[in-house]
Amino acid sequence: MAKILDGTDPRALQYAAAELRAGRVVAFPTETVYGLGADALNERAVAAVFAIKNRPYFDPLIVHLPGREAAALYAADLDARALALMERFWPGPLTLVVKKRPLIPDLVTAGLDTVALRVPAHPVALALLQAAEVPIAAPSANPFGYVSPTTAFHVQELLGDAIGVILDGGPCPVGVESTVCVLTDDTPVILRPGGVAVEDIEAVIGRVVVPVTMRPDARSPGTLPRHYSPHVPVVLLAPGEPIPRPPAGERVGLLSFTPPLGVEGYTVVEVLSPTGDLRQAAANLFAALRRLDRAGLDRILVEPVPENGIGRAIMDRLRRAAARVSLPETAEKT
Ligand code: TXA
Ligand code: MG
Repeated sequence: MAKILDGTDPRALQYAAAELRAGRVVAFPTETVYGLGADALNERAVAAVFAIKNRPYFDPLIVHLPGREAAALYAADLDARALALMERFWPGPLTLVVKKRPLIPDLVTAGLDTVALRVPAHPVALALLQAAEVPIAAPSANPFGYVSPTTAFHVQELLGDAIGVILDGGPCPVGVESTVCVLTDDTPVILRPGGVAVEDIEAVIGRVVVPVTMRPDARSPGTLPRHYSPHVPVVLLAPGEPIPRPPAGERVGLLSFTPPLGVEGYTVVEVLSPTGDLRQAAANLFAALRRLDRAGLDRILVEPVPENGIGRAIMDRLRRAAARVSLPETAEKT
């Protein structure tokens, strides 16, 4: 079992910072999901993160920074688009992929010549980054392929036996991971929809490309079709498709966007947002999927959400959770 420490306690922060500087991993809250952090400049510490998550080395990590000013230390090139996005969205759930400087270890970037940078908008994450005085490489604090944790307790359940400290910062307010935006080509590419809406990015830098979901992209080996997956099979309804009555004798859970009308026969129903608010739905998404996954069900049926704003990130996670294929083999959930 890991120690869960109050992330607002200055002594806990100092302790966690010292752990990071000593090359150990620490789980910490961000506004999106909990991260499993290590000193990004310490290759052995970063290797421990891959090992604990059972994450393949071809999937690069995001480097978290305490403020915008730090980006120039690790990015070889920050063009006008990068500066405009940093100014508008940092701290916040936007990750920028830019050309890297050599001091970032190859292990962090999976040998790519780019690095993913982000300044998280969570007081505990920022305080930890300041106290540690090192950039923190951190993936989400879940075993590779599984649903990301949005509370300290989720991290304890998933990885508690493999780590020493979890800083508790309460439930993550955004609830889905950061938007990953690649700025190394003429046209920016969104590799992963997330907490910052694509529309809001386009309002700052103009048109961006959003590749078709489910197709692994060469620039982000980590964006695999099957990801964020519960153990119980997930079936995603088509938009507008009526919610069917489950077959008699089957234990089926329903994940619905808003309170469902007149449905019967479900063993459990989880509602993402009583008022139909996409932000609230995102904040509840992973915890709801996890509860359904633990309810002893045969299947989880999922109602789609509108695909605008943060709804795009929610649908991306739901499609991946429902995907049956898994490429390559290392992405199989365990
Ligand atoms: O919200 C978040 O981003 C959370 C919190 C902890 O900050 N972190 C997170 O990390 O979701 P992770 O490792 O689960 O996802 C990072 C994504 C992966 O899809 C990875 O492939 C991509 O970012 N990525 C990282 N470095 C990259 C690079 N140099 N080029 C392209 N994609 C990169
Ligand atoms: Mg992840």
